Amino acid sequence: MSSKELARRRARRRRFYLKRFAFLGGILLLTAGLAGLLLSCVLADPAETVAPSGEGRTSPAAPDAAETGEVSETASEPLPEGWERIDVPESALAEGTLVLVNGEAAFDASRAKTISVYEGKNRNYLVKNIYLSVTPETLEALNAWMEAFAGETGITDVNIVAGWRSLEDQTKLYDNAVAKKGQGYADTYLALPGHSEHHTGLAVDLDTYNVEDGTSGGFDGEGEYAWAVDHAWEYGFIQRYPPSKSGITGIDYESWHFRYVGLPHSCVMASENLCLEEYIELLRGYPFFGEHLSVCCLGVDYELYFCPKDRVIVPTAGRYTVCGNNVDGFVVVLKKTEPAA
Ligand code: DAL
Ligand code: ZN
Repeated sequence: MSSKELARRRARRRRFYLKRFAFLGGILLLTAGLAGLLLSCVLADPAETVAPSGEGRTSPAAPDAAETGEVSETASEPLPEGWERIDVPESALAEGTLVLVNGEAAFDASRAKTISVYEGKNRNYLVKNIYLSVTPETLEALNAWMEAFAGETGITDVNIVAGWRSLEDQTKLYDNAVAKKGQGYADTYLALPGHSEHHTGLAVDLDTYNVEDGTSGGFDGEGEYAWAVDHAWEYGFIQRYPPSKSGITGIDYESWHFRYVGLPHSCVMASENLCLEEYIELLRGYPFFGEHLSVCCLGVDYELYFCPKDRVIVPTAGRYTVCGNNVDGFVVVLKKTEPAA
């Protein structure tokens, strides 16, 4: 490394510490008395503190660059006060609401922990059968989204026709599509078995169902249904395969397929017009040892940063969420404020 580069890195580190000293000074004073209480919040609130591995745990320092053979200035970097490295197993890359699943990134469907939509749904929408399931957080958000949609439009005929799918389910769908509509169609609208977002339990397909005559109408997201599309992000959902991003997602426009990513991610993706591939890439540009991404979403302030998979750094007090991206690292989300009462 050249001396110029060294000087540049030192300056960057100094800027980092200066910024955080000011920040930490205030935070430490404010949180000293509340630290125990906050930590117990962290441990008690799985929705806020995900958790690929035990939340808020202290663990040995991240492996040294010499051990891993990786070129890194951060592996053994001393941390500012108030931060710690935690040990997160590589398997946790596939946990959390930000997992990227596409043609390149596979997902093991047997990992998903899902619950029945039929048993947990409210009365504002329909579900195709009693077996359809999604993750608990997806169901909670779906209920809130459909309740708001019904409240706004009076429409309660949205029918959830797909949620979690096993590898076998996707294989059957894919093979049927190839047999009936050809390879081209299958590759345009169906993910390869093992590469479907439906394996995660975080994706739903919407349809409409007329209870009077038993007909299905499809979900084109137009007319009165446009409200559901436009406001999906407020409930943590994104339309995963928009027409303008098919070159990136590898899938043609699917007006019916929604993916739960949660707030504030859906908020940033909607406001910046990013598909999940683009958002995951954007977050890589906000490493812990660098500028963090600050966002205000629905009146709540968040701070986000990216950690490579073997170097996860979290605050020692306060709430945080760690989401695997299913590729190479984790996104840590700090909730800085609560919504105004
Ligand atoms: N239709 C989407 C791409 C899937 O098969 O997962
Ligand atoms: Zn789908």
